[in-house]
Order: sequence, then structure tokens, then C-alpha cells
Amino acid sequence: MGKKIFSGVQPTGNLHLGNYLGAIKNFVKLNNDNENDCIFCVVDLHAITVKQNFEELRNNIRETVATFIACGINHEKSIIFNQSAVPAHSEAAWILSCVARMGWLNRMTQFKEKAGKDKERASIGLYSYPILMAADILLYDSSHVPVGEDQKQHLELCRDIAQKFNNDYSVGTFFKAPEPLIQKQFARIMSLKDGTKKMSKSELSDLSRINLTDDKDVMVNKIKKAKTDALPIPGSIDELKKRPEAKNLLGIYSSLMDLTLEKSIYEFEGKNFSEFKSKLSQVLVEKINPISLEIKKLINEKKFLDKILFDGHVKANNIASKKLKKIHEIIGF
Ligand code: TYM
Repeated sequence: MGKKIFSGVQPTGNLHLGNYLGAIKNFVKLNNDNENDCIFCVVDLHAITVKQNFEELRNNIRETVATFIACGINHEKSIIFNQSAVPAHSEAAWILSCVARMGWLNRMTQFKEKAGKDKERASIGLYSYPILMAADILLYDSSHVPVGEDQKQHLELCRDIAQKFNNDYSVGTFFKAPEPLIQKQFARIMSLKDGTKKMSKSELSDLSRINLTDDKDVMVNKIKKAKTDALPIPGSIDELKKRPEAKNLLGIYSSLMDLTLEKSIYEFEGKNFSEFKSKLSQVLVEKINPISLEIKKLINEKKFLDKILFDGHVKANNIASKKLKKIHEIIGF
């Protein structure tokens, strides 16, 4: 039987190689399997947990759809919509926030990282964000959720919320606990400037990431400037343990080439970084430049993108509003 796939991406601009290799590439694979029902959501409600500019947000929502299509998602074989267009998400998030426990949320490491030292000034939305994520997933009876490593804890929370709701209201398996789909290797792409930090849109230095809209020469330059160490490429994964930057670059190469890390190490063992980096740049340009060109073309086709979102939201609304109605009945509204 096919899977019920759901995943979301924030429209906060600068979708990068981490988003692609960690998540979107997998969306495409799952979408290509005709057995699966796929829903891909542009999570604009999540985006406003941090202040957004009106024009930029509008453009970023369209750019996220353009990126999905440019990466190979088929909008005729999936539902693509933006979260705020389906009101059930916000309402279900409120209901689930009455089920989730403070103690559970207090353990979320992403909030701690994003809020930084000054937690008092973080928005409540940033704190309760994983509950909205649980609502997204549970409204569609999703069976599988493809994400990067950084979302693992949020998915565990989603499963806990589903289970507690089912127990509290004695409704068996009304909410289906979803399975995370996290790739075994390369599910966490790291910054090009610091191999111990995740590649991220919010990192100040643009040199820390490859944006999916970067021009060829920008990509090549970023790889040239990427941090490495003085040693040649080693002969085993074990030797990479204390060399996070080398491990990350070899991981990026392997993921782009669909190779195991072992195979890439074997290919480059004993070589120096300048040789490896020139091969990596070549592969990066080969795989990412067509995506980048396609995004830039599609971003001008506003009507096409808006139609995808419109059609998607009608379908999503149909599913989510029915589930919400059942939730109302269970609760006693
Ligand atoms: P977001 O927008 O931060 O990231 C989108 C997807 O990209 C993955 N990702 C990475 N993977 C590998 N290496 C990286 N450096 C890297 N950076 C990002 C993320 O894991 C994610 O899969 N909360 C989610 C969006 C969301 C969602 C959902 C996901 C909202 N509702 C329901 C799944 C199901 C987020 O902020 O992703």
C-alpha cells in the first residue's frame, strides 16, 4: 500500500542545499512513486514566528512553490498549498496545544537554539511552533513525514501528542502516529564555514551555504572558500570523525552523486582538497544549476504558481476541514 506523505518547508527565502539534500530531494523520490499520496505545504504560519516583511513573504511563498517544481515535484501528482489558506491548521494547533504538555515543549532543542540567550523576548509562536507542525501532519492522517535530521524531535513530539489525544478522548487510533522518513546518511548538511553547525537560512554569512538560486560562479567561489583542514582526504570514515568540515564536504559530494560516503572516500583517498573541491564544484554546478535556472524562470510565472497554490488549498481544505469536524465531535463542541 502507498504512503500518505506530508511535509512542510518555511517560505523564509534562501532555500539552500541543506533543504534540498536533507528533504526536498526525498520529496521528489516519494512523489515519483505513483502509490504514494503526497502533500507538500508552504508553512507560512510557521514563518511568522519571526517577523517577516510583507512583500518578501509573498514572494518567498511563490519562490518556495517554484523551488518545489524546479526540483522535480509534480504538482499534478501532489497537493501543494500554503498553510494559512487552510484555517483548520490554526484551529487544530490550538486544540492540540491543550493536549501537549509544557514539559514536552521545554525539551525542544530547536527552540533553545533559535531563541538564543534571550528567551524572554522570543515569540510564543516560536515556542509553540512544534504543536502547529503536529496539527499540519495529523489533520491529513499522514503516515510518513520526510524531513532532515533537525526535525526528528518535533516528529517525536507529534507522535506523543497524537497518542495523548487518542488516550484522553478514548478514540483508539483516531490520530495516526506518523513515521519520520529521515535519510540514513546526509540528513544533516552542515555550514561551509563551520562543520559543527547546521547549514541554515538564518546564518549571517552567505558563504556558509549554497542557496538554490546561487549563480554558477557564486557556487564555485563558495566551495573554494569553504573551510577545510590541512590534511589530505583520509581512507576511512573513522578518520573523518574529528574532521567535521572534510566529512561535510564529502557528504555533500556523496549525496549529490547518490554514492555512499565509503565510495567517495575511496575515490578521493590521499588527494588534497583543491583537487576534491574542483570535482565537487563541477558536480554541484551540474546538479544544482539547472534547478537554479528553473527557479529563476518560474518565479516570473506568478499566475502559474498562484494557480498551483489555489488548486492545492481547495484539495487540502477538503481533507483538513473534515478531520477538524470529527475533532469537534470528539471534544464535544
Ligand atoms: P525548514 O523550513 O526549516 O526546513 C525544510 C526542510 O529542510 C530540512 N533541512 C535540512 N536538512 C538537512 N540539512 C540541513 N542543514 C537542513 N536545513 C533544513 C528540514 O529538516 C526540513 O525537512 N518545521 C519545519 C517545517 C514544517 C514541517 C511541518 C515539516 C512545518 N510543518 C510538517 C514536516 C511536517 C521547518 O521549519 O523546516
